[in-house]
Amino acid sequence: MSLTFRTDLFIGGQWRPASNGARFPVLDPANGEVIEQVADASPEDGQDALRAADAAQREWAATAPRVRAEILRRAFEIVTARADEFAETITREMGKPLAEARAEVKYGAEFLRWFSEEAPRISGRYSTAPDAGSRLLVLRRPVGPCLFITPWNFPLAMATRKIAPALAAGCTSILKPAAQTPLTALLFAEVLQQAGVPAGVVNVIPTQQAGAVTGPLIGSDKLRKLSFTGSTAVGKQLIKSAADQVLRVSMELGGNAPFIVFEDADLDAAVEGALVAKLRNGGEACVAANRILVHESVAERFSTALTERMGKNVAGHGLDTRTTIGPLIDKGTRDKVNDLVVEAVADGATVTVGGTVPDGEGWFYPPTVLVDVPSTSRILKEEIFGPVAPIITFSSEQEAVDLANATEYGLVCFAYTRDLDRTLRLAESLETGMLGINTGIVSNPAAPFGGVKQSGIGREGGFEGIDEYLETVYVGIAGPSAPK
Ligand code: SIN
Repeated sequence: MSLTFRTDLFIGGQWRPASNGARFPVLDPANGEVIEQVADASPEDGQDALRAADAAQREWAATAPRVRAEILRRAFEIVTARADEFAETITREMGKPLAEARAEVKYGAEFLRWFSEEAPRISGRYSTAPDAGSRLLVLRRPVGPCLFITPWNFPLAMATRKIAPALAAGCTSILKPAAQTPLTALLFAEVLQQAGVPAGVVNVIPTQQAGAVTGPLIGSDKLRKLSFTGSTAVGKQLIKSAADQVLRVSMELGGNAPFIVFEDADLDAAVEGALVAKLRNGGEACVAANRILVHESVAERFSTALTERMGKNVAGHGLDTRTTIGPLIDKGTRDKVNDLVVEAVADGATVTVGGTVPDGEGWFYPPTVLVDVPSTSRILKEEIFGPVAPIITFSSEQEAVDLANATEYGLVCFAYTRDLDRTLRLAESLETGMLGINTGIVSNPAAPFGGVKQSGIGREGGFEGIDEYLETVYVGIAGPSAPK
């Protein structure tokens, strides 16, 4: 497909270059080629976007929920109709194989459909105070203009997961996509315009000067909400900046997901699940399995099977249909993955497949399995964000739970077991926002995605997703007097 990309900023319903004319290159991570030069928003452009969002807020909030719903539904239909274009754009700028990019388009579009169905269902309540002296009316109102800072790993889905509930709730927004993947975000802005989103309601400002552009927005009293997906380190800085205006925040931060294989698991299914949990998005996902904990009685069989399956992957450009694993996003990401493996080996771990940086162009790293990883190794403590599966063993359920919980993160856990009692014990004892049982993927637009501990604040998707964009207002009304 020959693609033409949007490369300008989208502010107040207009496509325009950066106020200072600056542009920055978007690179193909499979070969380093420049795909496009995109407008590089300046702090002044950021202020213009906020003014546009603020100016559009009142009218958008007053737009009938059914109208908001129908615009979202149209956006879902258009993304679905243009799925090939989205998938190819995602593959070009982010690197994932086309089949995975298509899966992301479906996943991303589904947030539009889900929240189109939620928009008309925003409700409050009416009740009688316990002493019957008054009536309690509780209503929900849109929080107001939002700033969204999204990552490069799911360039469409992380944007729709924030923009769709905001639109449904009646909030305007500014999206600052990752500098590595602005093309998908700009294509999505075009879709929103086509779907009938009024001028100023959504603004998209790619920039290479993230802090200089978003800092003043976060400090402005016009902004009411900040939602960020990315690393815990950056999330902490953003939470600190948001404190000055007591800005509402949603934070979807890092993970260190344990993938636990119990002795009673269906081992073939567990290997399949581990491949999904580890290799979806090349391991570049905050929900990627980061530590594989296997009961000692099945560890050898599991490691052998996983090693064999990981070794069968085909690396290449994501547009080549033979490719099952694309490049990592950039050199820094690949160097970090490689450093973690080198360090683990120095600590005493053994590589059973992969483990070396290949020669040639692009930021490739092979699917890698490590066994006998010492519990003190850094690879078990940090988010790997690459296709590396470190395996460690345990001998009891309690030990597995203790190992799983021994992290400051708490985004997701995966467990393979056929024991229902154990499943319930895990649900009640694992320190996690999400738990996958006999599955390597939990992400679902109809479910509340989010973490506990340092993995974040708030939930995205599900019934809970729209709450992040609604204020609760309580009205106390004196109880009626007796009829005359
Ligand atoms: C993420 O990695 O940030 C999100 C992954 C998902 O939605 O499945």
